[in-house]
Amino acid sequence: MKSNRKVLVTGGAGFIGSHTVDALLERGDEVRVYDNLNPQVHGPDAKIPRYLSSEVEFIKGDVRDRDSLKKAVQGMDVIIHDAAEVGVGQSMYSIDQYISVNVQGTGILWDILVNEKHSIEKVLVASSMSLYGEGRFECEEHGQVKPKPRLEEDLLAKKWEMYCPDCGSVLKPTPTDEEKELDCTSVYAQSKKDQEVYSIMIGKAYQLPTVACRYFNCYGPRQSLNNPYTGAAAIFSSSIKNDKPPLIYEDGQQARDLIHVKDLVRGKLLLLDSPESKFDIFNIGTGQPTSILQLAQALIDLSGKNFSPNIIHKFRNGDIRHCFADVSKIEKLGFKPEFSLKKGLEDLSNWVEKEAAESKVDLAHDQLVEKGLVV
Ligand SMILES: NC(=O)c1ccc[n+]([C@@H]2O[C@H](COP(=O)([O-])OP(=O)(O)OC[C@H]3O[C@@H](n4cnc5c(N)ncnc54)[C@H](O)[C@@H]3O)[C@@H](O)[C@H]2O)c1
Repeated sequence: MKSNRKVLVTGGAGFIGSHTVDALLERGDEVRVYDNLNPQVHGPDAKIPRYLSSEVEFIKGDVRDRDSLKKAVQGMDVIIHDAAEVGVGQSMYSIDQYISVNVQGTGILWDILVNEKHSIEKVLVASSMSLYGEGRFECEEHGQVKPKPRLEEDLLAKKWEMYCPDCGSVLKPTPTDEEKELDCTSVYAQSKKDQEVYSIMIGKAYQLPTVACRYFNCYGPRQSLNNPYTGAAAIFSSSIKNDKPPLIYEDGQQARDLIHVKDLVRGKLLLLDSPESKFDIFNIGTGQPTSILQLAQALIDLSGKNFSPNIIHKFRNGDIRHCFADVSKIEKLGFKPEFSLKKGLEDLSNWVEKEAAESKVDLAHDQLVEKGLVV
């Protein structure tokens, strides 16, 4: 790839997109951002966020607006497609919206790339660990096994773990690699899977190098503190700032792979630059499991507040028990996260201190209860 590229970042005003923009500008790329400033993320006034560099060319537009997106693609060398509706729980009732933005929006982008003149050399698509459903597991006696989805009767009995299909013993979560079969448990996950499958398939057919980046749970400054459908670190931070103990489903021992946004962006740019990464899928995570309870407690400790997480021992439909990344594939290209969890959460916490935050987590929870999605 040549340097000083012209990069179009869809969703570039958002959390991950804006950090991507900064990293691109820093190394001398020219950046155009295409974003509709979704009010759920950017507030009712839908203003360009203060943090977005004035060096970018900003186009306000929806990924489903073909004419406007077509103009945004013109003259660019590379596309990083980050724009999406982002919320597992919400996707289970805002179904049309999630399918429309994530699947149709991506379809329109590819329709432009296939049918219009352009100079795009590579496309990076934001995918997600949510495609896996549950991660990989092993049984002490039977080795790697494929557990059955958790049963409602087990969940009602507060048996949260995954069990061996052969002997019924509790399974140990192990790193999840890109070859694990996919098992989408939410509309969001399925929409990201469609995005990924269409992108690789069409990219390959037209020999336009395309990479799907399966982001694990990303956290850091700029993740919306007013959007109760984002990631756990931002939701917990917003609650704590508003003197509410973080709301925790199940028993809090569910494991995730928390990656600081700057590390995630480093991974993305590595995939963008590497000529070896094309028509392929890569996990971007740290490879380290962290429990949700550990995350909540660490954020409470950093805030200096004196309360405990509110563990409600209830299950959210669509949630999984454990999933963390096997990062050996991206490591082979030279990827190494630089933030320890401690350093990363300190960075988040310092930023949260200076920000306003309206916690709407109760509203989001009530909506799920109303729809019968909390067991
Ligand atoms: N945050 C995570 O942990 C995580 C994990 C896995 C995958 N992802 C993926 O990463 C990408 C970025 O997520 P994020 O966490 O930065 O979310 P975000 O909500 O902060 O950013 C998304 C951006 O897309 C914009 N957008 C939404 N709908 C749009 C539309 N119809 N047209 C144009 N722009 C639109 C929003 O205004 C926002 O600026 C998404 O594709 C998401 O699915 C995120």
